[in-house]
Amino acid sequence: MPSAAADKSSLTPGDATLAGARIRAQGVGKHYGALEVFRNIDLDVGSREIVAIVGPSGCGKTTLLRCIDGLIAPTGGSIVIEGEQVDGPLPGVAMVFQHFGLFPWKTVFANVAYGLKLAGATKAEIDERVPRYIKLVGLSGFESAYPYQLSGGMQQRCGLARALAIEPRVLLMDEPFAAVDAQTREILQFELLRIWEMRPTSMVFVTHSIEEAVLMGHRVVVLKGRPAGVFEVVDVDLPHPRGRSTLSHPRFAQLREHVWSTLMDEARAAELQLQR
Ligand SMILES: Nc1ncnc2c1ncn2[C@@H]1O[C@H](COP(=O)(O)OP(=O)(O)O)[C@@H](O)[C@H]1O
Ligand SMILES: [Mg+2]
Repeated sequence: MPSAAADKSSLTPGDATLAGARIRAQGVGKHYGALEVFRNIDLDVGSREIVAIVGPSGCGKTTLLRCIDGLIAPTGGSIVIEGEQVDGPLPGVAMVFQHFGLFPWKTVFANVAYGLKLAGATKAEIDERVPRYIKLVGLSGFESAYPYQLSGGMQQRCGLARALAIEPRVLLMDEPFAAVDAQTREILQFELLRIWEMRPTSMVFVTHSIEEAVLMGHRVVVLKGRPAGVFEVVDVDLPHPRGRSTLSHPRFAQLREHVWSTLMDEARAAELQLQR
């Protein structure tokens, strides 16, 4: 499936093949001691492309993102960002964490400024950019608030502003909306899509939500197996810009069902194995 009989003229394809990949992972594998988490993962992400990664809990999604971020080293294969081998954190690569990852002792302003400071921004740059990104994510007025004073959704807006403020060439998202309530999650999804349209970049969006993967991704990479591998890459041929109306597109339902059945086969098999 889904090579799709849809009308291609109205679609914006992922540009990994058009403009060359910004992120190129080849044959990537990772062991933790005796545990082989995944093996032989190939993944290209274009400079203006969102690749969503779905897979069961524990299949190594976070581990893969950390490898791309240069925080941990893969045990096999290579990851290259714009021609540069990743063997430690590279400039212009930002991560948004599931549990927000904010410093509790820093204000919203200082949390957003943090990544910029690390990147060597001047005070003038910080004073210009931080309020701009705080505004972009809808947190104006909360510059001097501390994380404990914010709702989960607002904390994640802050995490998003921190990542966006460095104007990253690569944006890595690790289940960024998993810890907020369903309604806030929808709002943040649409806001992220809107922000991405304003300044498209190379994004890897990890989620365990199939709906979210199909909504956000230009392609959806399905990881499964033990050790995990790329089971399928689904081209999401839904029109852009995406938004609320995407959810009621007939093609959205088809793609969601397709990814769902792919993952459920595995979940069922795992359950049967447990019962034995
Ligand atoms: N630092 C670590 N040391 C040992 N095992 C780890 C470590 N981090 C993750 N794992 C294991 O690797 C597997 C994949 O973890 P993770 O990448 O967090 O999966 P996911 O994000 O898909 O849920 C899990 O079995 C997890 O227990
Ligand atoms: Mg994870």
